[in-house]
Amino acid sequence: MIALVGCGTVGGGTALLLTRDIKFLKEKTGLELGLKYVVDINFDNARAIGIPEELYETDLNKVLNDPEVTIVIELVGGLTFAKDVVSKSLSAGKNVITANKALLATFGEELFGLARKNSVSIGFEASCAGGIPIVKAITEGMAVNRIDALYGIVNGTCNYILTQMIDQGMSYNKALKGAQAQGLAEADPTLDVNGMDSAHKITIMSSLCFGYNCELDRVSVTGIENIDIYDVKLGTEMGYTIKLLAIGETYGDKVSLRVQPSFISNQHPLAKISGPFNGVSLYGHAVGHTMYYGRGAGDLPTASAIGADIISVASGAQKILFDNYKYWPDLTQKPSYMDQ
Ligand code: HSE
Repeated sequence: MIALVGCGTVGGGTALLLTRDIKFLKEKTGLELGLKYVVDINFDNARAIGIPEELYETDLNKVLNDPEVTIVIELVGGLTFAKDVVSKSLSAGKNVITANKALLATFGEELFGLARKNSVSIGFEASCAGGIPIVKAITEGMAVNRIDALYGIVNGTCNYILTQMIDQGMSYNKALKGAQAQGLAEADPTLDVNGMDSAHKITIMSSLCFGYNCELDRVSVTGIENIDIYDVKLGTEMGYTIKLLAIGETYGDKVSLRVQPSFISNQHPLAKISGPFNGVSLYGHAVGHTMYYGRGAGDLPTASAIGADIISVASGAQKILFDNYKYWPDLTQKPSYMDQ
């Protein structure tokens, strides 16, 4: 059985998938995917979207002590209570699914170690690029490839703001309000616009791609707060589109990690990714160039990625990967970095 902790935008979308769409999911997968608890301190959102009241629970300990619960989905966000939820769940022998990129980029080594110690797994597909199944693309679809570089537009809020500025000539502040109204932005949108949210994601994805335990504090980060309409216009006049790019590159045995506003030629596929969408461009030695595109934020797009993890965990596939795949971010080997 599943317990979902945190019923905000993404939690609400996930609870909807596990209630409204449960018949379809069971038929499609053949798995028992019962939602037993929705844990929160405020159920206004849960009520507004029609999540059944009998699932509401305020006592996390009751959930952790329930032997029927084998999967805890953490959708609280942040680094304090969320860390408690994840640590306690792993220690209680529960598998964890989380969309919390800040948590994994900061405490990944500790939490993955705790999962291994307790013989459970962590699913984190939703932590990077929202609805795009980029974690599975890197760890499974591109498993035989040596991946040398990745370039991503991985923050839906920033991409929405920049697109509104470019296409509508909208001011930065008005566009940010629009992103918040659509449920794209973090509770504290500073993390979106200052580039840190993208830094969290590039830390996780680069660890998966390059096989090192990449460190958040080695990402060189510049956000979009200081971009104004004149920067945008200048790019347009020269045939470029301005995007917030998250970049992971290898140069021999060195790694470079950066988040920076970048002028991209209008001919490049990443330049065409607009609005709340994300795009990730990956280079593998066998497959060559691949591109992934989809909604990078929001309730149901992110719930889609969480749903994929639920199926992987419930079927046992996640545990097999987790135990055997050597590119999980609990690797202890740190990379050496390019001087930036
Ligand atoms: N605030 C994030 C974004 C949510 O805008 O992309 C998805 O991680």
